[in-house]
Amino acid sequence: MPKLHVKTFGCQMNAYDSGRIADLLARSHGYETVPDPLDADLIVFNTCHVREKAEEKLFSELGRLHKRLGHRPVTFAVGGCVAQAEGEVVLRRAPYVDLVFGPQNYHRLPLLLDRLARGERRLRDTGPPPESKFDDLPEPRASGRAAAVTIQEGCNRFCTYCVVPATRGPEWSRGVEEILAEVAQLTVQGVIEILLLGQNVNAYHGRDRQGVVHDLALLLRRVALVPGVERLRFVTSHPADMNRDLVEVFGDLPQLCPYLHLPVQSGSDAILQRMGRGHRVADYEAWIDQARRVRPDLAVATDFIVGFPGESEADFQATLDLVERVGFDHAYSFKFSARPGTAAVALPDPVPEEVGARRLARLQELLNRQQLARNQARVGTVVPVLVEGPSGHRPGEWAGRAPDMRRVHFPGPANLAGVLVTVRITAGLPNSLRGEPA
Ligand code: SAH
Ligand code: SF4
Ligand code: F3S
Repeated sequence: MPKLHVKTFGCQMNAYDSGRIADLLARSHGYETVPDPLDADLIVFNTCHVREKAEEKLFSELGRLHKRLGHRPVTFAVGGCVAQAEGEVVLRRAPYVDLVFGPQNYHRLPLLLDRLARGERRLRDTGPPPESKFDDLPEPRASGRAAAVTIQEGCNRFCTYCVVPATRGPEWSRGVEEILAEVAQLTVQGVIEILLLGQNVNAYHGRDRQGVVHDLALLLRRVALVPGVERLRFVTSHPADMNRDLVEVFGDLPQLCPYLHLPVQSGSDAILQRMGRGHRVADYEAWIDQARRVRPDLAVATDFIVGFPGESEADFQATLDLVERVGFDHAYSFKFSARPGTAAVALPDPVPEEVGARRLARLQELLNRQQLARNQARVGTVVPVLVEGPSGHRPGEWAGRAPDMRRVHFPGPANLAGVLVTVRITAGLPNSLRGEPA
């Protein structure tokens, strides 16, 4: 059996794509997935272009791995968002790369591999394909009891800092029955938790066979009806695409987990406007208030960018104030990275590097403090934890996710991977909770 190693960078959509690539190549060429790239005949790097750091990491890891492989003959393929945005650059900077393909083109990998086998070299497939990749993919193979399903691709929002509309392409939604079928294929394999994915997942507007348009809330209601779905989540939402029904479903669907990832990016209206986000800070807070009224135990996660061009001390202070007012359970925060081809590159008033770094450190200090306090406030609660595997913290401990996405560690005897265990929380740590089986 030929061996495949896939290394994933970037977001959950890339992780989903990597899984589908493995499914596809198992069917087409009998590839078996291996954890160590040194054992592989085909190495796929599934890349992220969202910040400069991610891109640099790709080239350094690629170079290092190529060196370690020595003269072993391996096929190197680079897919994902760097491949899409800078396929030429990849082929130039890494002369040993055989194949470059975009995130909407990976269903063609079997054909591309056949062309390489016939002696063609250095192929690039990044043009928009006329067909949907999903039509060519095999049934997903589940690994574990939680699985993701992409329901929406691309983005039309063009936030001024963001490469995603360029790398993933225009926004489109998968059909309702196609999604329901994929969910059912996963639940018959034992999956009980479904994560619906999209770069802007609440822009979902797919149709069913009758042509009826479904928004995300209606789709969630349909997915909740698939037998075997015990837990349901979705990421990532955009504040300007929220609607009242997406708030109501948190009260209506017992399977829908109390977790909302709603990136805000900044607490200043002036900066939000420069970012092209299409909403004000007050709109954001109003959505969070409404959602918390429907679901008081809702965990709220967000993303921030600091040091955006034109961000003043007062703008940054407004971000800190927003954090204090909202109270986030989790947050990702980044220093602005000027990306080629985005509108923000041309904006005046760049924030000096060291000012951006200082602001990021201050914001993260506040977010970490808040997260710890909110984790500690969970002590005494009893939660169902879907166990992922051994905790890695201490021997004999297991780790999994509570419904609100918090990671929970607890001691347990036998192999509990994939089991739903009821756990009483005994401690809140900076990034997780600790508990005991209840
Ligand atoms: N589609 C999602 C996330 C897109 S990328 C959304 O709209 O929320 C994930 C996060 O990376 C963004 O939320 C943003 O916080 C960050 N990000 C994107 N582009 C960036 C850039 N140029 N510099 C710094 N952070 C960036
Ligand atoms: Fe990027 Fe904005 Fe689209 Fe998110 S909504 S993917 S940040 S352009
Ligand atoms: Fe990165 Fe592409 Fe995802 S740029 S964040 S891998 S959509």
